[in-house]
Amino acid sequence: MSIDFTATQLATRAIHAGQEPDPITGAVVPPLYLTSTYKQDGVGQLRHGYDYTRSVNPTRDSFDTQLAAIEGGKYALAFSSGLAAIDVLLRSTLKPGDRVLLGNDVYGGTYRLLSKVFVPWGIGLDVVDISDYDAVSEALEGADYAYIWVETPSNPMLRITDIEATAELAHRHGTKIVVDNTFASPVLQHPLELGADAVVYSTTKYIGGHSDVVGGAVVLNDEEVRDQVAFLQNSAGAVPGAFDSWLQTRGLKTLELRVKRHSANALAVAEHLAGLPEVEKVLYPGLESHPGHEIAARQMHGGFGGVVSVQLAGGREAALKFAESTEIFTLAESLGGVESLIEHPAAMTHASVAGTTLQVPDNLIRLSVGIENVDDLIADLDQALERVK
Ligand SMILES: Cc1ncc(COP(=O)(O)O)c(C=O)c1O
Repeated sequence: MSIDFTATQLATRAIHAGQEPDPITGAVVPPLYLTSTYKQDGVGQLRHGYDYTRSVNPTRDSFDTQLAAIEGGKYALAFSSGLAAIDVLLRSTLKPGDRVLLGNDVYGGTYRLLSKVFVPWGIGLDVVDISDYDAVSEALEGADYAYIWVETPSNPMLRITDIEATAELAHRHGTKIVVDNTFASPVLQHPLELGADAVVYSTTKYIGGHSDVVGGAVVLNDEEVRDQVAFLQNSAGAVPGAFDSWLQTRGLKTLELRVKRHSANALAVAEHLAGLPEVEKVLYPGLESHPGHEIAARQMHGGFGGVVSVQLAGGREAALKFAESTEIFTLAESLGGVESLIEHPAAMTHASVAGTTLQVPDNLIRLSVGIENVDDLIADLDQALERVK
C-alpha cells in the first residue's frame, strides 16, 4: 500500500498501517507467522532479511509499523511485557553512575525494577513529585540526570504532569524525558509531539484491550537509540511471540472506539461517585476539581482515560469491603480491558512500594472502567457501597 499515513487520521492509520493484504492470496488480514525460523535460499541468502524470530518476525513487524504510525513516531519496538520494554530502554542507554529522576507515583513494578535491579547495578535513583514543576526544577539544579521518568496520568493517584513544560525543562539540563503513556494510550495523548524523547507502553492494557495478552512497547524518533534498544532486545530476547503481536494488532484497530467509550464511562462514574458520602475523594483528571484538570484538558484529546481512583471515607476496611462487593467490576489487577476491574493498590498492584516514598493510601481503590453499559456499572458500584455502610 502506498498511502502516506502521515496525511491520514489516527483511526485510518490504526486500521491500515502495516496491514497490507497478503501478496499471494490477497487475505485482507495479514497472516499470523507462527514460525521460529525461515528457509534460506543459500547460506546467508535470506528472504527479505528474515532469519530467526527472536530477531525478526513479520507479524511483529506489522504491529511495530501500526503502533509507530498511530503514535506519530518513527520507530516502535514491541516487547514481551511493559516491564521488558522499560528494562531494555533503560539498560541499553544507561551506564553505572548515571541517575534517573522518577515520579513519586508510578506503577509499583517500575519502581521495583529501578530500585531493586538498576540501583544495585550502579544507577542513582531519586524520587520527586514529577507533576510539581518546581520540585523537578530543583532536583535538576541539584544533580545531573540521564532521564526523567514520567507517568501521566500516573498510577494509581492519577496525577498530571505537563509534558511539554517538563520536556523543555529537562532538555535545558541535558536530560531526556520518557513518558509512560499506558494510561492515556496513543489515542488521547502524543508525548513525542510534546517533546518527549521516548514513549513506553504496557500494551497489556488499552492497546491489547481485552485482558488476554501481556506486552509492551517503546516508541521513539532517534535512530541511534532505536538501534541500541533493538540490539539489546535481540541479545536478551525480550520479544513478544507472533500470536501476541497479532492479538495486539487486532486490539489497535479498535483502540480509538474503545478508549473514547472507556473515557466517557469513567467520567460518568467519577461524577457519580464524587457526590456520595461514603467517598472521601475521587481522583480523576476529567473532573474540574482535579488539580491537573487544566493541563490534562490541554494535552489529552478526546477524553481523560478509563481509570478512576477513589479514597473511601471508611478507611482501609471500607476499601477492602468495597473491592470485594462488586458484581460487574471484577476484583483483579491490571486495567484497560473491555471489562471493568476493581483493585486495592496498597495490597495488590502497589504492594512493592509499601514503606517507600511511593506508598499509596490504604483507603484507595482503583477502578478500571470498562466499556459495558454505564448505568449498569454505576448501579454495581452503588450496591457495593451500600454493603460497605
Ligand atoms: C503504567 C504502567 N506501566 C508499566 C506497567 C508494566 O507493564 P506489564 O505488566 O505489561 O509488564 C504497568 C502494569 O500495570 C503499568 O500500569
